[in-house]
Amino acid sequence: MRNKISIIGAGFVGSTTAHWLAAKEMGDIVLVDIIEGRPQGLGLDLYEASPIVGFDARVIGTNDYADTADSDVVVVTSGAPRKPGMSREDLIKKNADITRDCIANVAKYSPNSIIIMVNNPLDAMTYLAREVSGFPKSRVFGQAGVLDSARYRTFIAMEANVSVEDVQAMLMGGHGDEMVPLPRFSTISGIPVTEFIAEDRLNAIVDRARKGGGEMVGLLKTGSAYYAPSAATAQMVEAVLHDKKRVLPCAAYLEGEYGLNDLYFGVPVVVGAGGVEKVIELTLNDEEKALLQKSADAVRNTLNTLKSL
Ligand code: 2OP
Repeated sequence: MRNKISIIGAGFVGSTTAHWLAAKEMGDIVLVDIIEGRPQGLGLDLYEASPIVGFDARVIGTNDYADTADSDVVVVTSGAPRKPGMSREDLIKKNADITRDCIANVAKYSPNSIIIMVNNPLDAMTYLAREVSGFPKSRVFGQAGVLDSARYRTFIAMEANVSVEDVQAMLMGGHGDEMVPLPRFSTISGIPVTEFIAEDRLNAIVDRARKGGGEMVGLLKTGSAYYAPSAATAQMVEAVLHDKKRVLPCAAYLEGEYGLNDLYFGVPVVVGAGGVEKVIELTLNDEEKALLQKSADAVRNTLNTLKSL
């Protein structure tokens, strides 16, 4: 039997996530949105591409959560995107209301699903999703580290003039401008990245990666990025459905790891059929710990705003 994946929100991130997943034959896909016609139209359009591309995946669009019943994985992209000048945190009130409603429906119709959160502010929305769903922490996690590290890997490959496929890079922290790319844990085919890129250039790359989402908002002007965010999400869905045990940076619920408690925060985790199966604790130096703490403080602030709404 095929897996069932529901994607909530048929905006650019949701619909391109459906596209990547269908092309990879990851399962049947249900695209949900409140706008009448949009998910139905995009779902049918994607389905109609299947004879050409050659994938077997039933894709439907709907305005009714009942159609998502018994999903294996649910991806939540719904919410307002950023406009130029806005931080991810500026979205909190609107997206919290949307997230509450959507997660209540996900928990009702797919009580055994794994939820992957993608909407912003990411770490806070993932926290809210766990709270509203009542799901165990392993079955609710957030996307951003895969996206952020992909941006960082792209910039490293561009600078070193090597294949992106050979760049491995770790990045931790919240999905905000305080995130912490980790050059010490970044390599090009196992060779430390510092062998290829001078310190000042690497610092510039780290800075660009941290502000990568804002760079896209500035360029697009009417919304935020979607190709890379959706590709990142699809990779996480695949890690779950194929029980791949991928080591990926994801927003995971922490209970003491890295000295942090009751917080969703970007850390390296093992992703498999159980969702987040393990949090990996790296030994960080003092400088890295200080940067991580700064990022955790920023996430905590957003969370406090969420709790005060
Ligand atoms: C980004 O970083 C939308 O937060 C997303 O592009």
